[in-house]
Amino acid sequence: MQFAAQPFELEDRSPQMRVPEGCAIVIFGATGDLTGRMIVPALFSLQQRGLLPDDFAIVGFSRSKWNTAVFREEMETAVREYAGAMTIDGTAWADFAQRLHYISGNYGSREDFEQLAELLGRVSDEHSCGGNYVFYLSTPPSVYSDVIQQLGAVGLHQANGENSSWRRVVIEKPFGRDLATAQTLNAQIANVFAETQTYRIDHYLGKETVQNILVFRLANHIFEPLWNRRYVDHVQITASESIGIEHRAGYYEESGAMRDMFQNHLLQLYSLVAMDPPVVFDAEEVGAEKIKVLRATRPIPLTQIDQWAVRGQYGPGWARGEYVKGYREEENTDPHSNRETFAALKLYIDNWRWEGVPFYLRSGKSMTKKVTEIAIQFKRVPHLLFGLTPADALNPNAIVIRVQPNEGFSLQFRVKSPGQTIRVHQVSMNFDYESLFNGEAPPAYETLLLDILRGDRTLFAHKEWIEYAWALITPIIEAWESSPASNFPNYEAGSWGPPEADALIAMDGRSWRRP
Ligand SMILES: NC(=O)c1ccc[n+]([C@@H]2O[C@H](COP(=O)([O-])OP(=O)(O)OC[C@H]3O[C@@H](n4cnc5c(N)ncnc54)[C@H](OP(=O)(O)O)[C@@H]3O)[C@@H](O)[C@H]2O)c1
Repeated sequence: MQFAAQPFELEDRSPQMRVPEGCAIVIFGATGDLTGRMIVPALFSLQQRGLLPDDFAIVGFSRSKWNTAVFREEMETAVREYAGAMTIDGTAWADFAQRLHYISGNYGSREDFEQLAELLGRVSDEHSCGGNYVFYLSTPPSVYSDVIQQLGAVGLHQANGENSSWRRVVIEKPFGRDLATAQTLNAQIANVFAETQTYRIDHYLGKETVQNILVFRLANHIFEPLWNRRYVDHVQITASESIGIEHRAGYYEESGAMRDMFQNHLLQLYSLVAMDPPVVFDAEEVGAEKIKVLRATRPIPLTQIDQWAVRGQYGPGWARGEYVKGYREEENTDPHSNRETFAALKLYIDNWRWEGVPFYLRSGKSMTKKVTEIAIQFKRVPHLLFGLTPADALNPNAIVIRVQPNEGFSLQFRVKSPGQTIRVHQVSMNFDYESLFNGEAPPAYETLLLDILRGDRTLFAHKEWIEYAWALITPIIEAWESSPASNFPNYEAGSWGPPEADALIAMDGRSWRRP
């Protein structure tokens, strides 16, 4: 079954449709992977699609002794490699390249930031940026506090004079490694920038389907009345990767599945699915509703942690058609590592909408397939009329929101199979973006960068949300780090995770979906 798109669109009069004002984007860590692979290709693509203002410039800041010419060359190579299917003709590149500037400096040096301020003044005049600056921190987190402090020290954090120019700061993930470090970073930012100037990136929020969760729920009348404890049995949120940690052992040994996936992406999806409708669709109101979800979430009882949170680590196994190494055999991991590559969590929200409805969250590396989805599993019908077998009864209605791959939605329900006897068949109605709207959804970084330039913080994490998320997760991480798992590795690469995860949900008489 398929959906057809209606041949009309509501005219979008929202603030999101504003063309951004002229501005300069300063990228700290401009020689790094993220700058070349994501940020600059996304800006180039936005410019090619006519979504950037005519008056914009990019200033790279890093310690490496590059200059503007080298920066332009490096970015050209990167854009040609990472700008997707876009054709890059010489004129288009030349127009973009003359907006790129570079300055080498140390992240903690006031003198170097004074030089940056001077250069920015010149760049702003040359490209008519109007003194509007975005400061994008694309360095390792250890450098964030130096950069923020120096921006404040040289006065770059606030616009001068009476004009209405603005300054914004963008912070990459990870935002802290526990509650205390996140609070410290929030305080350091708040010393210099207002919350309204601060954009904490979670690239999941830039994905089309994630934004569509609210449209799906709140622009239709047929789903929202069911979206509560009366009709929903439970919710499953899965974010599985089929690959292992690849070459990121250094990062992963420090991080693990809980920090890498739960504190940010999974809890964001959870908040969007569970939140109440905001009064208006803007950053403050949406942010406030998401914060309420975390405030109402029951803390995990640490004395019975195993009944609420389980961890796993992959051993060798068959994945993606080949025999692959276990985590402890990966390059640069500790052969006795206690680091979790899988986690599952059961959460309850103590409020009127969700009381008694469990939310099961799981995420892992080296699993059967790469998929991110949210499944709203409905209760069984109150009375079975058609002599269904117990097996039939195990498949109640579900709405599945697929975040990746093949972004879209599917609605699972039952129909009668053709024939003279009544036989019940499970079918699914699928909507996927690519086939319906003829093309892929815009990459998340493009969406997020455009929102930053437009001054729309709806898709960025709020200070308080971050702290509630860490408050929920930190005790679990601390408990796990203080008591090494005795059974690691406990799942085979290429499987759906450890038996403990199955037991976690089976304890409640339920089972994980096999997406
Ligand atoms: N790459 C990704 O796909 C990705 C995805 C999500 C989030 N992030 C986050 O985005 C940020 C940037 O990521 P990235 O992969 O581009 O990082 P990266 O390549 O490791 O570092 C970016 C730049 O920062 C500077 N740098 C590196 N280590 C430093 C240190 N110890 N002290 C001072 N400067 C240092 C280097 O430039 P100079 O030596 O020239 O100063 C480097 O080119 C990180 O916070 C990361 O967690 C990245």
